[in-house]
Amino acid sequence: MSGEGVPPTVNRCRVCDGEVQECLDFGRQPVSSAFVDPDGGGAEVFYRLAVGFCTTCTLVQQLEEVPRDAMFRVDYPYRSSESALMRKHFEQTARHLLESELTGPDPFVVEVGSNDGIMLQTVADAGIRHLGVDPSRDAAETARDKGIQVQVEFFEEASARRIRAAHGPADVIFSANTISHIAYIDSIFRGVDALLAPTGIFVFEDRYLADIIEHNYFDQIYDEHFYLFSIHSVHSMAERFGFELVDAERLTVHGGAVRFTVARTGARRPSAAVAELLAREQELGLGEAVTYERFASHILRTRDELTALLRDLRSKGHRIVAYGATAKSATVANFCDIGPDLVDAVYDSTPEKQGRLTPGSHIPVRPPQEFAAPYPDYALLFAWNHAEEIMAKERGFREHGGRWIMYVPDVHIV
Ligand code: SAH
Ligand code: TYD
Ligand code: ZN
Repeated sequence: MSGEGVPPTVNRCRVCDGEVQECLDFGRQPVSSAFVDPDGGGAEVFYRLAVGFCTTCTLVQQLEEVPRDAMFRVDYPYRSSESALMRKHFEQTARHLLESELTGPDPFVVEVGSNDGIMLQTVADAGIRHLGVDPSRDAAETARDKGIQVQVEFFEEASARRIRAAHGPADVIFSANTISHIAYIDSIFRGVDALLAPTGIFVFEDRYLADIIEHNYFDQIYDEHFYLFSIHSVHSMAERFGFELVDAERLTVHGGAVRFTVARTGARRPSAAVAELLAREQELGLGEAVTYERFASHILRTRDELTALLRDLRSKGHRIVAYGATAKSATVANFCDIGPDLVDAVYDSTPEKQGRLTPGSHIPVRPPQEFAAPYPDYALLFAWNHAEEIMAKERGFREHGGRWIMYVPDVHIV
């Protein structure tokens, strides 16, 4: 799309410097967790949400970077503990780490992106030395109120060195749904290098690129998800920074994720799962343009079907609302142009989001207690990854004739 005589921009991979080919463009998007004060306030920040894949290492990455301070502000409203499913998931994760890794004389675990303490709670209750690192002050305060140690700052090389100097080496550095949010990944790995004990492990879980493509989870693409990891891209990333991918475990949370375990090169024997998953990925074409062309047409079809359905229902006089003011929904609402003209309100259990407007699309966020007063005809389920939990809680909606609108993997009504 460059002008005549102007050479096209070549995007370079943030990790391996390979060529990055642009493959998806969602246009102008707001900061996904920047809920708007209805009484006005500062201007909203917008950027172009465009994605490319590295033709060398398959790392999927965004082409424009939203400054970290615009995303993770002191009042960042996401609270991990709103979901019972995720509370159970992280309690099990913590128990697993306590039993398998944190068994020495005085173990120490650091969590990057500890949010409201959903994972560290179990570690703290077990009396194990720990430190959460998270720049979102309000979320960190919630964790501190539960007796969890948290440092309010961004994890990066400098803060990692300070933690090492103050507390000694970490046996485990854990992180969930955070490493993929961090564009400056080289500083993260240098920080891990500075902080991790010689035989320690760096464990991180993030959404899995293959699941996103296979199930058309296009709304997993938003500002915070700067990278979409594959086994291949993490394997070569670890290698590049002097580490080795020693285990990879597929998880069902958030529509499909992987728990990556990374150790210093040669420190641990890689599990058979790594080789198996690498081999399986070879067949998925994650480094080929055609894969993303297919994904793009699926996304466009979904957008057209969803907007047609909403407009049709609305024109017939039905009342439609949404459920779950997720970060994912920023992409859906802004890409599909869904605003308060189509959807009256979005119901969400997070107090920090209620009373505000969704970023860019400006749909009012209301507490779930108001969902039934009276029930709408249709509810668009933005929090599809919590479908079971939400549909169970809101059983009355269907009993009163209400219907859920789903849009992944395809538009359908349940
Ligand atoms: N681990 C939780 C929270 C994920 S939300 C869960 O899985 O549910 C991402 C969190 O990472 C936010 O709380 C955000 O403030 C934090 N974060 C973002 N960049 C960070 C960085 N560089 N270092 C530490 N935390 C960071
Ligand atoms: P989630 O899908 O976890 O994340 P993301 O913002 O990264 O897309 O967000 C779930 C949202 O749904 C969160 O704002 C809380 C809300 N929620 C409810 O309102 N009720 C519920 O029962 C659950 C589980 C979540
Ligand atoms: Zn690359």
